[in-house]
Amino acid sequence: MPTSFIMNICCIGAGYVGGPTMAMIALKCADITVTVVDMNAARIAAWNSGQLPIFEPGLDDVVNQARGKNLFFSTDVAGQIKKADIIFVAVNTPTKTYGVGAGRAADLRFIESVARTIAEHAESGKIIVEKSTIPVKTADAIKTILASNTKGLKFAVLSNPEFLAEGTAVKDLLNPDRVLIGGERTPDGEKAMETLVSVYARWIPRDRIITTNLWSSELSKLVANAFLAQRISSINSISALCEATGADVDEVANAIGKDSRIGSKFLKSSVGFGGSCFQKDILNLTYLCESFGLPEVAKYWESVVGINDWQKSRFSARIVKELFNTVADKKIAILGFAFKKDTNDTRESAAINVVRHLLTEHAKVSVYDPKVPADEIKTDTLGKGVDNPRLTIAKDAYEACAGAHAIAIVTEWDEFKTLDYAKIYAAMPQPAFLFDGRNIVDLDALRKIGFKASGIGKPAEGR
Ligand SMILES: NC(=O)c1ccc[n+]([C@@H]2O[C@H](COP(=O)([O-])OP(=O)(O)OC[C@H]3O[C@@H](n4cnc5c(N)ncnc54)[C@H](O)[C@@H]3O)[C@@H](O)[C@H]2O)c1
Repeated sequence: MPTSFIMNICCIGAGYVGGPTMAMIALKCADITVTVVDMNAARIAAWNSGQLPIFEPGLDDVVNQARGKNLFFSTDVAGQIKKADIIFVAVNTPTKTYGVGAGRAADLRFIESVARTIAEHAESGKIIVEKSTIPVKTADAIKTILASNTKGLKFAVLSNPEFLAEGTAVKDLLNPDRVLIGGERTPDGEKAMETLVSVYARWIPRDRIITTNLWSSELSKLVANAFLAQRISSINSISALCEATGADVDEVANAIGKDSRIGSKFLKSSVGFGGSCFQKDILNLTYLCESFGLPEVAKYWESVVGINDWQKSRFSARIVKELFNTVADKKIAILGFAFKKDTNDTRESAAINVVRHLLTEHAKVSVYDPKVPADEIKTDTLGKGVDNPRLTIAKDAYEACAGAHAIAIVTEWDEFKTLDYAKIYAAMPQPAFLFDGRNIVDLDALRKIGFKASGIGKPAEGR
């Protein structure tokens, strides 16, 4: 398809990936009409309102500039499929919870259902772009389903995984390290790739747009997330050794990160990684390895998730231990619930494990997060519609901490760095404990106030 014919892009899935990615394409390609569709009517209504369904710094501005001009949000999936020249598929691909591969394999039912819907409603050939993260070889399944349409239409399937990070999505989309496009090495496949390259090339230098074969592209996304998560688990494993020896994990990270072969990024120790992708994608990778007869490789990557689970439980176990082995009826303040700062996403957040653990120990838990609504915190922790009087949601950090025996910082929101900790300390029973799960506060300064303060991988007081 010649590039001048691209008029309509449709994206199926208006989530954390589909919404921001399409908003950026619309902003940068004024001559292309971009419509994001979703079967979730409430989500589409939110995209069309002044209160977007996801929080991302700078996103309101991008959406406001393009929405109503060449960016639209709609529930008319079938109608937009008919109109589109390029269809991005950005639906969720969660870990399967049932049947074969439960707990590890990707659940591809949403992908398959989209492929069937496209086959049913398309009236002309199209380029189908896998934006969702999927197991290697998924394009084969999509191609087979599309080929079964009885209209003899020709579809090209491309892989174009998304590498944005929540919290910095707008920045990442504006200036990505690379854009990866995989396609079939046939004349039709090459033509489809060139069409998609020409969309991104409107604002991204060509040398940052990589084209590969389909399977390399599909696999690269899983491998990128596995490598990123592996760095976090590596430094987190060392944090435990630092605590045991009196070394400081930030000093160790700084020293090793100066080696250009290692590099300084992604070496921040914490309560453990969360988010919808890292764990799911590693489990998906390990399942793939086993399916292809590579159990040793699967085991290697599985340990990255194992260390992360351990790190999360180590943090809450430490709170209980330091509070004289009982938190029953003690108030614990949890600062932060999102899986990281600058997002309202709570999927797989370490906070969920920490709060659940403390509730199991009969603590009274008060949670504050600047962006996550109260009902979501309750649903994530307890389940939909379930209540527990021991779990309360505070309107700010001071309310959460008032009368608390201990504070646990679980998300690295900037506002937690500059709280008036002397004021907070004065409103807490003594001894007052603070557990910094993100190493963002000055432990020495807090100790001077009187707190029994500890971080992750940090020397104990006086050590
Ligand atoms: N969240 C991230 O930071 C991130 C980054 C890179 C890649 N990814 C990948 O991108 C994909 C999407 O992730 P997300 O976080 O945007 O998910 P999400 O759950 O926020 O959004 C997915 C949307 O797809 C919609 N949907 C599902 N099936 C549909 C159908 N048949 N028709 C219409 N709409 C349908 C859902 O209603 C939902 O709104 C996943 O594969 C994920 O692994 C996510």
